[in-house]
Amino acid sequence: MLGAVAHAASVAGVAGAAGVASAADLGRHLLQLHGLGAPALRGVLARARVYAGHDADGAHDPASWRDRLRGRVVANLFFEDSTRTRVSFSLAAERLGARVVNLTSVGSSVSKGESLVDTALNVAAMGVDAIVMRHKSSGAPHLVARALDQRQNALGSGGGAGVGSSATAARVPSIVNAGDGKHEHPTQGLLDIYTVAQRTGRLEAFDLSGLSVGIVGDIASSRVARSNIAGLVALGARVVCVGPPTLVPRGLASLGAELTSDLDGVLGGLDAINVLRIQFERHEPAGGGGGGGAVASGGPAVGNVIASVREYHELYGLTLARLGRMKPSAVVMHPGPINRGVEISSEAADSVQSAVLAQVRHGVAVRMAVLEQCLGV
Ligand code: MLT
Repeated sequence: MLGAVAHAASVAGVAGAAGVASAADLGRHLLQLHGLGAPALRGVLARARVYAGHDADGAHDPASWRDRLRGRVVANLFFEDSTRTRVSFSLAAERLGARVVNLTSVGSSVSKGESLVDTALNVAAMGVDAIVMRHKSSGAPHLVARALDQRQNALGSGGGAGVGSSATAARVPSIVNAGDGKHEHPTQGLLDIYTVAQRTGRLEAFDLSGLSVGIVGDIASSRVARSNIAGLVALGARVVCVGPPTLVPRGLASLGAELTSDLDGVLGGLDAINVLRIQFERHEPAGGGGGGGAVASGGPAVGNVIASVREYHELYGLTLARLGRMKPSAVVMHPGPINRGVEISSEAADSVQSAVLAQVRHGVAVRMAVLEQCLGV
């Protein structure tokens, strides 16, 4: 694990080394939404709006789109499981004409003890243009981005051989964070925000002022929640984090979110609700022992965070009854994977108010816009 200290240092280092290209641009790396201003967020969301106007299968894309990243290579480095995010990044890259290569820790030299930075430097040395990275440790993409930027800076100031040396003539790739530990998942945050804007008629300017968005569930474990809070607050929304105190860290208030454990008390005022899974695998089982595990059914204690799945569902599950007490226009979202019957009932997940599959569709458009901006197209 990289640990909080390395994480904080790496975030600061990358902010200094790579920075944001301009106020209305994401810059070369996309590591987090925290710290990005409204102009940068609106810029990438507006570009996603162009791509979202076409079928997600790409069948009706203008031919010119495939020229945008033609000749570029995007490497997916996923050291943690993923269904939606990896496929979505792959489709996004391919629809813009890029080639995609996939690497997981299983079957790569990571399983032989190679460090993350060495793996990334080697992949970079092969001439990839972007590394899309998912890692269980918070700060992992920041660390890699900083290492690549330091190589480039050393070269720029007459430094020695490395990934960016004229001898190897390798490009220095963009790093796109596809989820780092419990820290951030910036493209999920962007696609969630896009979905809120689309369903509430805010696509024109992505001004979310006057909207209230609830985030319910295991916020303590959630990189999705942190990216949502950062982006939603920057665009003017009110964000309310809801869950038992064990799953809603008090520190989130410093990011601009309101915190409560009373879901029924806030439901009626929400314009959108983003329901999160309890990430059992990131919690210790009750009594210690490490590991977490599969969803426990029924009554027994689950981890040290909730008394039982049944009780959690009763207090915090989004059911049809609760949905009935929300505004008729309220948007129901979930980043997936859904644990039906735990944080949300099947009826609520499949209701007309559910935007769950729209989120997935918007994810491709958002990632097209992100890749294009990070690669400077
Ligand atoms: C994530 O990768 O963070 C997921 O989209 C959310 C989850 O795993 O529950």
